[in-house]
Amino acid sequence: MRLPLKLAAGLTVVVTGTLILFVELGHRAFHREAVARQEASLISAWENAARATGEAGSPERRVAILRAVSELCEPQALEESVLVDGEGRIAARVSFTPGGADYIGTTASRPYHIAALRSAGTLRQDDVGPRRQRAYSFPVSLAGRRLATLVAAYRADDLERPLAWIADLTRRRRLLAALLGFGVALLASAALSASLLRPLDRLVEAARRVREGELRHRLPEASDDELGVLSREFNRMTERLVELDELKDKFVAQVTHDLRSPLHGMLGQADVVLGGYEGPLTPKQEEALRSLVRSGKDLAGLIDDILEVARLEAGKAPLERAPVGVEEALEDAVSAVKGEAERLGVSLAVHIQPGLSFVSADSTSLRRILGNLLSNALKFTPAGGQVSLSARRDGAREAVFSVADSGVGIPENRLSSLFAKFSQVPETRGRARGHAGSGLGLAICRELVEAHGGRIWAESKPGEGARFSFTLPLSAHSK
Ligand SMILES: Nc1ncnc2c1ncn2[C@@H]1O[C@H](COP(=O)(O)OP(=O)(O)O)[C@@H](O)[C@H]1O
Ligand SMILES: [Mg+2]
Repeated sequence: MRLPLKLAAGLTVVVTGTLILFVELGHRAFHREAVARQEASLISAWENAARATGEAGSPERRVAILRAVSELCEPQALEESVLVDGEGRIAARVSFTPGGADYIGTTASRPYHIAALRSAGTLRQDDVGPRRQRAYSFPVSLAGRRLATLVAAYRADDLERPLAWIADLTRRRRLLAALLGFGVALLASAALSASLLRPLDRLVEAARRVREGELRHRLPEASDDELGVLSREFNRMTERLVELDELKDKFVAQVTHDLRSPLHGMLGQADVVLGGYEGPLTPKQEEALRSLVRSGKDLAGLIDDILEVARLEAGKAPLERAPVGVEEALEDAVSAVKGEAERLGVSLAVHIQPGLSFVSADSTSLRRILGNLLSNALKFTPAGGQVSLSARRDGAREAVFSVADSGVGIPENRLSSLFAKFSQVPETRGRARGHAGSGLGLAICRELVEAHGGRIWAESKPGEGARFSFTLPLSAHSK
């Protein structure tokens, strides 16, 4: 699972859960409060009724009070309300439950009646009687003398029924909270992704670029948090890499430079001997000497390449830019490798988009780039294959040159690192025809193209050939 998804899922669970928990706790407190208020107002109404009953004077008025209060105080839940007189007999009774027998005059016998009679003050009894009722009882007194007892028994379930709207309301609120939590979590994760993942993405991108050889790529170091620290450390690391790289380049350039003169001296001597100036050679001696000269020239080529890369990287190879005829440059490049192509059995083709005449370039550099790309294409294309060289306009400012072949191709994961120095594709190393090379040709091409303000890239699929393309600015003559 990707990081933004993980964050969103985690946040959704946490935020939604927390919101639901708060709503749930709020609901419970609200419900408790509503129940307590209901009970308080019930008790206060019955206490008033008990007081009024005490002062009523006549039995008829007592019954009337009992009935009136019963009808006012949650009548839908009332099981019975009774007035028990001083002798323990039921003096009056109100019940809204159908089928209630007439108990008037009988002795109050239910256990909660008895408990009520014994209690000196207001009493609440739970789970009494056959229907697990709640009974409230209140002494009825006049001038400090107990006259009777009032008992009101309620069915607890029915008593709470009017409060059902609270549960209903919270059910809807909980759903709303879940939706709200979900929305908030999505927004929060988007914001977090932006603030947290963007720097991470930048870091991944920077690491990729450094891996591809762009050692001077730097990250912004703006923030003070851990990501800022990471960026700073990353930059220190790449600075160190650049230092080491420069040290290595200097060392290699120095060594190769020192190798150059003696090597050319040796080659010159060998030429003198081969020319017969030091006396005749046997055929075997001549063959051995020619092989020595071939190897020496390969070595001299490598040394020249290394020194050229070093010069280009140091910016010590100024370009002499001038309008260069595209057709002429391509014909030159092709004729330089024609003999080699014939020897290898590879056909060559050139396509130039009509109307494309001049680019602004250093002609030696262009020859060098095309020569490198063509020699690579020939090296990796088996006999019977083709290599084609093409040029076209791209927009109003650029020309794109391509060298395409039908050869062995390059695995996709190698494409981005091809242009680094000394980089060769291990998968196809054994398939090069002729001289194995050193992996510097494409690095030189990239330096030269970039010095012109252009780009160079490769496209390929293994087994389906490769296409190397680069851009150069059009000359004013061509625009
Ligand atoms: N046309 C091509 N087809 C297949 N592989 C190629 C082609 N061009 C370049 N490569 C790969 O890129 C590597 C680097 O090329 P280059 O820098 O010219 O070095 P060299 O030719 O000295 O090996 C080659 O060794 C080869 O693995
Ligand atoms: Mg090459």
